[in-house]
Amino acid sequence: MGRGKIVEFIDTGSIMNSKLDWQFPDLLARAWWSLVKTDCPADWFELLPELDFDRPDRSLEPQSLAVLDYLPRLASMATAPYRGIIDSLIEAQANLRFGQTYSEADFGAEFLRQYGWIKILGPDAYWHSSQLASGFLILGNDVTYPQHWHEAEEIYLPISGNAEWYREDQGWLRQPVGTVIHHSGGVKHGTRTIGEPLIALYLWRGGDLNQKSAIQ
Ligand SMILES: [Fe+2]
Repeated sequence: MGRGKIVEFIDTGSIMNSKLDWQFPDLLARAWWSLVKTDCPADWFELLPELDFDRPDRSLEPQSLAVLDYLPRLASMATAPYRGIIDSLIEAQANLRFGQTYSEADFGAEFLRQYGWIKILGPDAYWHSSQLASGFLILGNDVTYPQHWHEAEEIYLPISGNAEWYREDQGWLRQPVGTVIHHSGGVKHGTRTIGEPLIALYLWRGGDLNQKSAIQ
């Protein structure tokens, strides 16, 4: 690790000295990397930096969310190899940092109970990249992630749960597990679940990788 990176960690305040003995599970990191390699377009995978799976660039304070209660059901619905990723998330969830981009003022309290993500790679994630952000989005079983847009180009890959996905040029479409769903930068999109929860790999590239999406 270079001296510059140490300074950056101190500046962002994200380092947790007491947590340094805890490592992000390398099995989960390898499974996520493998998913990007095997299921995503090659020009996205090529943006992944060299990763040391045994040593994340940052240690982040754990944070839990209500939506994690859906993980066991998502695991039971999933098939190999996706199930292993969800099982790894469940096993490590007490030590992982899950987050939300929005507040109650944006989409209401019920949305926040059924929404969250974990970011594995990105400008402020476990592994550092300023070119690509990636992790998993989790939605509960009856929620609409309203239409929004952002500068970054995005792909989603559902690994458990068959949700409906909106894109302004094609309307709402039910997209099965394993489908690569692409949103160009600036295109309005949304997601809704009907009776079953959803977990999807996401990747962002281009634009501001920490942008809060614009609504409408
Ligand atoms: Fe998006």
